Amino acid sequence: MVNYFEIFLYISIFLLSVFSYYVYFKNKKSSSKKKAYKLPPGSMGWPYIGETLQLYSQDPNVFFVNRQRRYGEIFKTKILGCPCVMLASPEAARFVLVNQANLFKPTYPKSKENLIGQSALFFHQGDYHTHLRKLVQASLNPESIRSQIPHIEELSLSALNSWAGGHVVNTYHEMKKYSFEVGILAIFGRLEGHVKDELKENYSIVDKGYNSFPTKLPGSPYRKALQARKRLGKILSEIISERKEKKQLEKGLLSCFLNAKEEKGLLVLNEDQIADNIIGVLFAAQDTTASVLTWILKYLHDNQKLLESVKAEQKVICQSNEQENHGLTWTQTRKMPITNKVVLETLRLASIISFTFREAVADVEYKGYLIPKGWKVMPLFRNIHHNPEFFPDPQKFDPSRFEKDQRVSVFRNYCNLILHYFLPLLVLIRNDITCNKKMGIVPALLGEIA
Ligand code: HEM
Ligand SMILES: *[C@@H]1O[C@H](CO)[C@@H](O)[C@H](O)[C@H]1NC(C)=O
Repeated sequence: MVNYFEIFLYISIFLLSVFSYYVYFKNKKSSSKKKAYKLPPGSMGWPYIGETLQLYSQDPNVFFVNRQRRYGEIFKTKILGCPCVMLASPEAARFVLVNQANLFKPTYPKSKENLIGQSALFFHQGDYHTHLRKLVQASLNPESIRSQIPHIEELSLSALNSWAGGHVVNTYHEMKKYSFEVGILAIFGRLEGHVKDELKENYSIVDKGYNSFPTKLPGSPYRKALQARKRLGKILSEIISERKEKKQLEKGLLSCFLNAKEEKGLLVLNEDQIADNIIGVLFAAQDTTASVLTWILKYLHDNQKLLESVKAEQKVICQSNEQENHGLTWTQTRKMPITNKVVLETLRLASIISFTFREAVADVEYKGYLIPKGWKVMPLFRNIHHNPEFFPDPQKFDPSRFEKDQRVSVFRNYCNLILHYFLPLLVLIRNDITCNKKMGIVPALLGEIA
């Protein structure tokens, strides 16, 4: 009897555990099912290499546009061993970069982080990032820029003079020199000549190493860049001590950094943080501005009628200033409707930053799709700017689209945000095509565009 009871007990315990395990497991399965969004459509290509070969062997425009056509505004792929989700709509870009920015962290190769400096704002999220962004924006507000206009004008005239005389120059290189000068002005205000030269020489070594293979072998551009980066740190630290000592009242980004107040538990910036961010902003500003300037020249050269109307717009301002004997004013830079639209259309068509990267820090759901934790996320700016739904006949350079079409107003708002970065650009265009009597300069420069 006892044996039977025991057997019965064991069997019941066994059945009970199987049953409860089954119930538990089933519940778990169904609850995980509830959250199991599917991955976006798209092809992951071959094992490990994914679609890397396709991306590098064809025109990147074609790669992205074909996939967008086949799969829609969100699709997956695999590049260089990393699974990625690519996003080609304005809402998705906003989701990743603005609304849900906390779910996506910046990812840069360590080799680049080491060259610019780990404390630069691009590599951070959260309060530190917000704090720094506010400081950078403060240094670019109209009040600060207004007082710099005469100096920017001076720099642009001196650049123009250096191109006179009929010799051939490389447009992009010249624009880089000019945007570096304006960058230095915006960051430091005035700077002694020899300090500026040391900065310039060492910075250009860092710049050359930035896109080279990151090996520390003696003599490699990357190693040289790291060494030059160290020297830059020293030069910046000397400038900072001098500024602190003399309590110099120069305007610009450096004073914004030095005068930063403690906020939300964030301490005042230390010297390394300041240096990293100064180099970071120079990086963000120099190549972008130089590329946009170069494209503007090209587009104006290819659209002679437009060039004439930009010239006419600038000539009016120029003549009135010559009569009243003063330089360009802030108000005037706000009243260049044609020139402004040319800048906007250049930003759209050239789309000099085609896309950016983030990495999901958790599983994220977007429009019913899963973006798994650890995957890369790429908002594709170029696809947005070249989408015929937003910009009819997208390959056409047509600044007047910004008058006719309300749908492009989103783009205008986005650009207006960064448009005051473009002040140097407006000043250069103005001087280039009006005050300078050697009008041939624009076409002459264009022969050199790569
Ligand atoms: C002229 C054309 C320019 C274009 C098309 C451009 C475009 C962009 C884009 C797309 C980003 C976002 C990158 C990302 O978050 O992954 C960015 C970030 C940034 N840009 Fe520019 N930029 C331009 C010029 C400048 C200039 C002149 C400055 C100088 C102050 C500048 C400073 C920055 C900074 C500091 C960031 C980082 C912002 C942050 O992380 O919050 N940019 N830029
Ligand atoms: C770089 O900076 C140092 C000062 O740290 C300076 O002596 C040197 O001339 C600069 N230029 C080059 C090319 O190293």
